[in-house]
Amino acid sequence: MAGFVYEHLLICVSVLVLLFFIVKRSRSRRLRLPPGSLGLPFVGETLQLISAYKTENPEPFIDERVNRFGSIFTTHVFGEPTVFSADPETNRFILQNEGKLFECSYPGSISNLLGKHSLLLMKGNLHKRMHSLTMSFGNSSIIRDHLLVDIDRLVRLHMDSWIDRVVLMEEAKKITFELTVKQLMSFDPGEWTESLRKEYVLVIEGFFSLPLPLFSPTYRRAIQARTKVAEALSLIVRQRRKERGSGDKKNDMLEALLGGDDGFSDEEIVDFMVALLVAGYETTSTIMTLAVKFLTETPLALGQLKEEHDEIRAKKRKEGPLEWSDYKSMPFTQCVVNETLRVANIISGVFRKVMADVNIKGYTIPKGWKIFASFRAVHLDQDHFKDARSFNPWRWQQNNSGAVTPVNVFTPFGGGPRLCPGYELARVELSVFLHHLVTRFSWVPAEEDKLVFFPTTRTQKRYPIIVKSRNECCY
Ligand code: HEM
Repeated sequence: MAGFVYEHLLICVSVLVLLFFIVKRSRSRRLRLPPGSLGLPFVGETLQLISAYKTENPEPFIDERVNRFGSIFTTHVFGEPTVFSADPETNRFILQNEGKLFECSYPGSISNLLGKHSLLLMKGNLHKRMHSLTMSFGNSSIIRDHLLVDIDRLVRLHMDSWIDRVVLMEEAKKITFELTVKQLMSFDPGEWTESLRKEYVLVIEGFFSLPLPLFSPTYRRAIQARTKVAEALSLIVRQRRKERGSGDKKNDMLEALLGGDDGFSDEEIVDFMVALLVAGYETTSTIMTLAVKFLTETPLALGQLKEEHDEIRAKKRKEGPLEWSDYKSMPFTQCVVNETLRVANIISGVFRKVMADVNIKGYTIPKGWKIFASFRAVHLDQDHFKDARSFNPWRWQQNNSGAVTPVNVFTPFGGGPRLCPGYELARVELSVFLHHLVTRFSWVPAEEDKLVFFPTTRTQKRYPIIVKSRNECCY
């Protein structure tokens, strides 16, 4: 009898095991992954990607794979199998389905530095509410009525100290940090903002280091600096709560956070401010620096830009501040801004985690996989932009058919529920910066400098230039 039961059990187990393998096999057959190569065990194709992006021309990494496998391919980078999209339609689908089929995903090491209540990490309804609050604080009317005057004043003030050799990336970083601090909590530049910025620089370095406190002094320093930044900001939040109690209200983002119906805690507000400072700092300052680099290398464009801004200046009194109507009469500047965003691709794309098996263009991407929507691949694709690899601001001029369908394929600020809330602000900051730069100075590069794209888009020497006041020079 025991033998019969045992035999019966054995048959049941074997059938179950067989069924398991059949289901698994048919599932993997059903899941037709995009073609591609997973590279070496563990490291995948990470080393090829890094070595390509450490050069001035990282395009072959994508070009080779798109030529072999098509515009959606599978690879394995940064420790995970990842589907890579160089297809604008797929990228739009990914962005639009944020929170439904895809969700943003950052490694734990980045979350520790950002803080768990950061907008970049938030999900669901809270994200929706915070995102729309942030959008409302960076919209055109707020910039026109409140922020423009500070942007103009702070950029000008900063350039007052420029003589001879200027490391442009450093200066641009100081400017954007000061502008964000002003927008967030109404502080003018001073010792406090500069010491906060220095801690900040350490936090940012942590994003690009080995995230192991035991082995990486850079990451350890970043965590310590993050604590200091949070303490300094908490103090400000507490002070402001007190001031509000006695009826003193400011017109800034902190006020919107303190005064909203959501009743945010101090910790939530601090995490929010940290994230905003991170998001606007590297991006805007890099785009300022690279706009100058590309213009310097394209004298015809620089000449046309100067003409546009000299005309605006000629209509104003010498030190008169820029007004909204001035900003609105810079059509060529907007072409330069677009073209810099397109060619430089500060955010080269976005990583998302797949929330459920997703069908895209006949392929199935399994739940839990990573997908990377590459903006860079689309922006530099000859099918979407004629002569895509060269800097040509004129392509953005109306009636110029240099770009085939630039609006639908141009996503430097992302899209969907996570569209960059600083997109208009970044444009205004860059336009005001260019205005004062070209009307006040002429410059030449101080030394040869190379553009690289890993770990971030930047020039190797932070673009040092020799400036000369235009009053003294030959113009
Ligand atoms: C040239 C400058 C900038 C570029 C190229 C840029 C690009 C982007 C992109 C592509 C995203 C989407 C990320 C994603 O989908 O995961 C994003 C998100 C974000 N950006 Fe920007 N950005 C710039 C400037 C700014 C500025 C000036 C601010 C604010 C002061 C800002 C604040 C943010 C925030 C808070 C998010 C997160 C939005 C969310 O997850 O809901 N950005 N940015």
